[in-house]
Amino acid sequence: MKAVVYEGPRKVVVKDVPDATIEKPTDVLVKITTTNICGSDLHMYEGRTGVEQGKIFGHENMGVVVEAGDAVWRVKQGDRVCLPFNIACGCCHNCERGLTGFCLHANPDPEMAGAAYGYANMGPYAGGQADLLRVPWADFNCLILPEDAEEKENDYVMLSDIFPTGYHATELARLRPGDNVVIYGAGPVGLMAAHSAVIKGAAKVMVVDMHKDRLALAEKMGAIPIDDSDGSAVQQVKDMTEGKGADCGCECVGYQCCGHHGKEEPNLTMNNLVQSVKATGRIGVVGVFVPQDPNGIDPLEKEGKLAFDFGQFFTKGQSMGTGQANVKTYNRMLARLIHEGKANPSMIVSHELPLAEAPDGYRHFNARDEGWTKVLLKPGR
Ligand SMILES: NC(=O)c1ccc[n+]([C@@H]2O[C@H](COP(=O)([O-])OP(=O)(O)OC[C@H]3O[C@@H](n4cnc5c(N)ncnc54)[C@H](O)[C@@H]3O)[C@@H](O)[C@H]2O)c1
Ligand SMILES: [Zn+2]
Ligand SMILES: [Zn+2]
Repeated sequence: MKAVVYEGPRKVVVKDVPDATIEKPTDVLVKITTTNICGSDLHMYEGRTGVEQGKIFGHENMGVVVEAGDAVWRVKQGDRVCLPFNIACGCCHNCERGLTGFCLHANPDPEMAGAAYGYANMGPYAGGQADLLRVPWADFNCLILPEDAEEKENDYVMLSDIFPTGYHATELARLRPGDNVVIYGAGPVGLMAAHSAVIKGAAKVMVVDMHKDRLALAEKMGAIPIDDSDGSAVQQVKDMTEGKGADCGCECVGYQCCGHHGKEEPNLTMNNLVQSVKATGRIGVVGVFVPQDPNGIDPLEKEGKLAFDFGQFFTKGQSMGTGQANVKTYNRMLARLIHEGKANPSMIVSHELPLAEAPDGYRHFNARDEGWTKVLLKPGR
């Protein structure tokens, strides 16, 4: 089969690799119809993780089941399924409580809770930017889609990661109807947090970024775009909230966030959130922060540390939730919103490319080139 393989910083190639196969009786094999490039892939693409060369990327996967292991009873050949990026066993202490992003069985590294397809430190699993994908614990992990699966493919594929992740950001921030929320980052995840906030009935949804094309999409979703090109986002949020700050906030950028000169400042969004969220407000952090970043420029960041304004955070009595999204907690419910036409996450899709053009897709999306908001790869084409 063809697959997108990592060969070193800023180098992915599409090449022939051995076909994915059923390895355990609880697996299914999925023929991939859509697989997205994610902002999370870019951390690996830029050489800012410990991912090994030869890894097949791709954790935002959707397709058709072509083979099922002997122990699989619920999922059938021919089902159209969307796969949560988290690989979870379904029966460990964390999975039982819905914390499938922190499964205790799926990752063989005893220091790590949680596994994913095609991702650094998330277990030995190959990604789905390929013709075929092996799905472990298939009965638990597959979301079987309704009859409009093909027609709304570009919506449903967002259930693999960014729509539930954006929604999770608003849950971690304990967003309630009528709240004013500030979201840092108008990448795919920030835009999905904005979409979720609008759906949940937020009053003002303020989205901060520096890219005009992405801010325009936020506005199209019913959010207020805030351009931080001159570093004034905190003040703009305060001006819009009678000087108090937003009721809650979401971090949807991660450790590679930048100042307005384009230089990385890993603590910038976190400290901006502390400043632009009101006293006692809650902050939800889904942007990725890593335990080590050997190629980071900042000495603290190399060790996964941040110069965080903890004094301000404490004085304001704020609180915070962090981490990978537990996709399964939300994907079934969000699928219904798509089915009923109440959510349309595909509005952020800018490009649909055949698998062979993945290297181009990575280059443009990584450069945040204008108009490259979300890239979908279509292996079948
Ligand atoms: N927690 C999870 O489960 C989960 C899942 C998916 C993605 N992620 C993470 O979410 C983050 C965002 O992903 P994405 O796909 O949207 O990526 P992206 O890189 O396309 O988007 C990030 C956006 O943040 C903007 N930005 C940079 N510095 C900023 C600043 N100082 N203030 C405001 N905006 C700033 C960039 O211009 C860009 O538009 C990444 O770190 C990704 O790894 C986490
Ligand atoms: Zn992703
Ligand atoms: Zn588990």
